Amino acid sequence: MPRIAIDSNTCKRDGLCTMACIVGVFQQDERGAVPRVARPERCFGCGHCVAICPSGAVSHSSYPEDAVGTIAPEQVPTYEQVLEIIRSRRSKRKFEDRPVDRADVEKVLEAARFAPSAHNAQSVEYVVVQDRETLHRIAELTVEGLLRMLKPFRSRVGRALMGLIMGRRKAAALGRFAPEMDALADLFRSGNDLILHEATTLIVFHADDAGASPSVDANLALQNAALAAEALGLGCFYGGFVLAACGRDKSIPELLSLPATHEVYGVLAMGYPKLKYRKWPERRPARVRWV
Ligand SMILES: Cc1cc2nc3c(=O)[nH]c(=O)nc-3n(C[C@H](O)[C@H](O)[C@H](O)COP(=O)(O)O)c2cc1C
Repeated sequence: MPRIAIDSNTCKRDGLCTMACIVGVFQQDERGAVPRVARPERCFGCGHCVAICPSGAVSHSSYPEDAVGTIAPEQVPTYEQVLEIIRSRRSKRKFEDRPVDRADVEKVLEAARFAPSAHNAQSVEYVVVQDRETLHRIAELTVEGLLRMLKPFRSRVGRALMGLIMGRRKAAALGRFAPEMDALADLFRSGNDLILHEATTLIVFHADDAGASPSVDANLALQNAALAAEALGLGCFYGGFVLAACGRDKSIPELLSLPATHEVYGVLAMGYPKLKYRKWPERRPARVRWV
């Protein structure tokens, strides 16, 4: 249980901690009173109490002074700036032949770790792969894994069987994907890597599979990372093939020495982009129903 206290000398008695805490750790018995730490056992460490208190009166053992930053309003981008980076991000697949600087990768991970997570679990972990041989082996294992995965979908009987297991529509879709995967595998064998596109850095997002919502957590972190990478002038794309192969068998998780209880939930391939985009293509209008 965390140690939480309120300094009655600096507390402004505004009750902000009681309002920000959604699990009722704090209680303000009457308006203008210093709140009490009533139910510290309920705290799940979200840090809202220390973040909301303007006078720093709340102390929390998980958030010593050096673990609480002050927001710089002038650094917060406008809606237009946020939208511009979101729209100008592209999946980039042509890279310069040099690894991403460690300092840049660290900046990307800094953005990733500030993503929200279910119950503030912050359980997502990262493997950064820059070793060329390992990158190539991951691509190789991806091709092998996906070919194995598609094997049952190649015959009508196999598709029917898989249809019973996973539903007809999904089985049919995977059946349609098989020829595309064959072409990809042929290209890969002839030296054309459409799995990693010669990305020089791969970030593998993994977490304990018993968490509350590890896949969502990982992919929120991944999108933070992708936008930060864009802001840094890096290029990246979602490593969906690698992710699918990781779900199929343990060869890539084992290659990366992931804990046995962990699953890969997201893969981001990265590098210094060779191409510069100057325009963004329009997307479908949002299909929305207001209820
Ligand atoms: C779940 C997911 C998996 C993806 N897998 C791959 C992949 O394996 N290889 C790749 O080059 N791009 C992959 N992409 C990128 C998409 O092709 C891309 O986002 C889409 O074509 C739109 O282009 P944009 O990202 O430039 O806007 C993936 C994207 C997502 C969201």
